[in-house]
Amino acid sequence: MKEPQLINLPKFTDPRGNLSFVEQLNHVPFEIKRTYWIYDVPGGESRGGHAYKENQEFIVALSGSFDVVLDDGRDKITFTLNRSYYGLYVPKGLWREMGNFSTNSLALVLSSTEYDANDYIRNYDEFLNLKKDGKI
Ligand code: TYD
Repeated sequence: MKEPQLINLPKFTDPRGNLSFVEQLNHVPFEIKRTYWIYDVPGGESRGGHAYKENQEFIVALSGSFDVVLDDGRDKITFTLNRSYYGLYVPKGLWREMGNFSTNSLALVLSSTEYDANDYIRNYDEFLNLKKDGKI
């Protein structure tokens, strides 16, 4: 799976409260090595303006809503996440930015790699050059 896409997760609706879950190599196309979450985002802030050379992600809005903008160096697509029973698969090699966070929103991110600062591309021009040269 190389294209970004929204993936529906199982949802058990129940009068006691709903339940969803996610399994590696089943609902997401990678082994989960790490999970982190983004919370208490002040109004108007954006996060994650960068690309990864190797890391793949699956992003879920556990609470509230936010936008994920994906950019392959030519086109930008905006995905709005606002339900906890689906998420966005983000392949490696895309510039991604998260913004428009609602109050009290909670973004859960499942990652295919452990944290590695060297996996980040933080400069947009460098990203475009690597894309142009087919290096990512
Ligand atoms: P970063 O991914 O750079 O967030 P953003 O692109 O939104 O600024 O993460 C911010 C800081 O958190 C960075 O200094 C490194 C640290 N960090 C970890 O130590 N482990 C992790 O898994 C993540 C995602 C970040």
